[in-house]
Amino acid sequence: MKYLNMRNIGMYTLAIMFSTMLFFSTSSCTQNKKTESFLSLKNGIGTDFLIGVAVNTNETSGLDTLGAALIARQFNSIVPENCMKCAEIHPEENRFSWESADQYVDFGVKHHMFIIGHCLIWHSQLAPWFCVDSIGRDVSPSVLKQRMKFHISTIVSRYKGRVKGWDVVNEALLDDGSYRNSKFYQILGEEFIPYAFKCAHEADPQAELYYNDYSLFLPSKQQGVLHIVKSIRDYGAMITGIGMQSHFTMDGPSISQVQTAIDTLSSTGCKLMITEFDLSVLPFPNDINGAGIEQTEKYSIQYNPYTKSLPDSIEQVWSTHMKDYFDLYRSNKSKIERVTIWGLTDKSSWRNDWPILGRTDYPTLFNRDYTAKQFTKTLMR
Ligand code: G3I
Repeated sequence: MKYLNMRNIGMYTLAIMFSTMLFFSTSSCTQNKKTESFLSLKNGIGTDFLIGVAVNTNETSGLDTLGAALIARQFNSIVPENCMKCAEIHPEENRFSWESADQYVDFGVKHHMFIIGHCLIWHSQLAPWFCVDSIGRDVSPSVLKQRMKFHISTIVSRYKGRVKGWDVVNEALLDDGSYRNSKFYQILGEEFIPYAFKCAHEADPQAELYYNDYSLFLPSKQQGVLHIVKSIRDYGAMITGIGMQSHFTMDGPSISQVQTAIDTLSSTGCKLMITEFDLSVLPFPNDINGAGIEQTEKYSIQYNPYTKSLPDSIEQVWSTHMKDYFDLYRSNKSKIERVTIWGLTDKSSWRNDWPILGRTDYPTLFNRDYTAKQFTKTLMR
């Protein structure tokens, strides 16, 4: 009996010790899991500046439930990747297509996001009717102005008070700082830009208004932007900010190039925003740069080296570059209002198909399975 009692006491003690250990281990795991699941970008880097993401219609319509949940938990700002572009939202002169844009804005309001509109005037994805008459001739300057005013005022006033900032004009410059020879420029000259900003401000005086472009690390392009800002102000119109798209590659730009761009562009007194940040890990053909959607290149395996997965060594280099860029943005947070990533996951990134269709790139903060990359976790709290 004595032995039995001692044995029972021993077993009882062991049972108590095991269940105690089990309780603390699971509770700490649960705690860790719970902590892990509550980690977010918006509570981390998002306290230095708005942290945003370009969203697609699968995510904002709820079709992509994982994507929608991840966006809601991680970000405090959104921008529509495509649904508000002219060809999508205003396909015919007297017909608007509101469904996707309404879903996008409703998603942003539901999740208390800083909602951006993208983009009111752009030479690409332009509805084919916009700058020509019924037999294909360029319309007159006055007709184009009427159409721009109708387009801008109808869209901006529909979302007045909910869309907080608009990419009013997108990519109007070439790398040398001269004006792109778009239809808008051919018909109206430089005036199309200040005129667009004037129309947007009249439609929603409270909305922030941005000029948005890529490769603004080029000094020549910076000078072009300074000229645009001056032209808007001389016209009596209003501009709030300059969008530096920031579609970067493993070849650059350097930190000092981006810092110089920040210093030059913030000298206008405009807010700055990093509007379309992504960092491709892929090699590019020599004559391809920036983000000009019109640039394309035929497929070759030499430009698509990581079809199965990304080697750890390459992810390490990518992470180092990303840390350098985010450290730079943090050190300039008094000038930078927002950093938006152009795409939620590597799978949904436009980089997989530009400038070469069918590649496998790894340019965003989240993996193809919606998990956060190691670097991304360093931005979370
Ligand atoms: O919606 C049609 C679909 O009906 C059709 O079946 C399919 C195949 O042809 O095309 C779909 O439209 C595509 C659209 O993305 C939506 O997926 C267009 O072809 C395609 O050209 C378009 O690409 C977008 C690109 O802008 C061109 O507008 C990219 O998703 C988008 O990430 C990219 O974003 C631009 C910014 O707006 C401005 N800055 C540069 C950036 C990268 O080019």
